[in-house]
Amino acid sequence: MNKNLWEEGNRALAEGGFEDKSGPEPGNSQRLSREYMDSLWLEMRCIDSQAADTRMNLFGETFAGPVFITALSGLDKVCPDGMAETARGALKAGVFMGMGIGEEEELLRIAGTGARIVKFVKPHEDKKFVLEKIASARKAGVFALGMDTDFFYGSRSKPRDFFPQPMGPKTLGDLKEFIKAAEVPFIVKGVLSEADAYKAAEAGAAGIVVSHHGGSALEYAVPPLLILPRIRRALGREFPILVDGGFRTGADVFKALALGATAAGFGRAVMTGLVKEGAQGVERVLKETIGELEWVMLHTNTPDLGSVDPSVIWGRQQS
Ligand SMILES: Cc1cc2nc3c(=O)[nH]c(=O)nc-3n(C[C@H](O)[C@H](O)[C@H](O)COP(=O)(O)O)c2cc1C
Repeated sequence: MNKNLWEEGNRALAEGGFEDKSGPEPGNSQRLSREYMDSLWLEMRCIDSQAADTRMNLFGETFAGPVFITALSGLDKVCPDGMAETARGALKAGVFMGMGIGEEEELLRIAGTGARIVKFVKPHEDKKFVLEKIASARKAGVFALGMDTDFFYGSRSKPRDFFPQPMGPKTLGDLKEFIKAAEVPFIVKGVLSEADAYKAAEAGAAGIVVSHHGGSALEYAVPPLLILPRIRRALGREFPILVDGGFRTGADVFKALALGATAAGFGRAVMTGLVKEGAQGVERVLKETIGELEWVMLHTNTPDLGSVDPSVIWGRQQS
């Protein structure tokens, strides 16, 4: 993405209380994941290069690229009507948007923009409350539902009882129940092991998000891009595997695709556009990212997303 927007947006976000979470402290998972992403390089395949088609299909719909806005919340503190502005940007860019914690009224407002929304319900301890949230999201017309199962004790900075409705761990049986109640595709977010990937699939999830919640779930969490190939092997070729954590550019997205992802989620990067330019900034970040992805595809002889060849990726251990 545009370097100035990234830097200016980050400064504005920090001034507004949204600190960058990829700090220098040992074990910072967000920083470690970014470092791993940066340790992967791309070879070029220019001869016979063809036009590149970035379009992605998910759950029967077509999007402009394998890029989405990952589960976000509380964006009114970033920009007036921030969640709806973000949704407008997503709609214009032709991608879908994840909504995290937030009330029904806010969900209705963002769904009313016409954007395709995935509502991620929190793993509240009270199962009845979760089922109510699922029902109201379904009624709001979301494209898909999901749950950030890694948030079962809240985050390190927000202990379990911080929320009016406390969080609690979820079992395979609970997930099965939620997925049955959803009636739309259900995405389990916060998967960072083969074990949980198998359980999500067994529960009937339509997809997963490989994620450590921007580092807030665990220190020294394995970088999503490092574990992705294993999870892809575990779930097979066709299973939708989304990923998030520190994505900024189209090259980042390409690396994720080459390692087994279906699409990559953008959180903070989209917020830098939002804080500077509202919906237009969101649209700009997303469109520029898809443009960068197309550039990488052109230079790696990748005509479409089905043709991404993992052997294009180089790591430090290779020569
Ligand atoms: C402001 C903000 C709010 C978030 N709210 C939620 C949420 O409600 N539910 C959720 O599953 N994840 C939430 N996340 C985590 C993101 O979905 C994502 O996992 C994480 O930010 C990593 O992506 P990024 O590095 O691109 O920001 C939030 C992240 C941010 C920055």
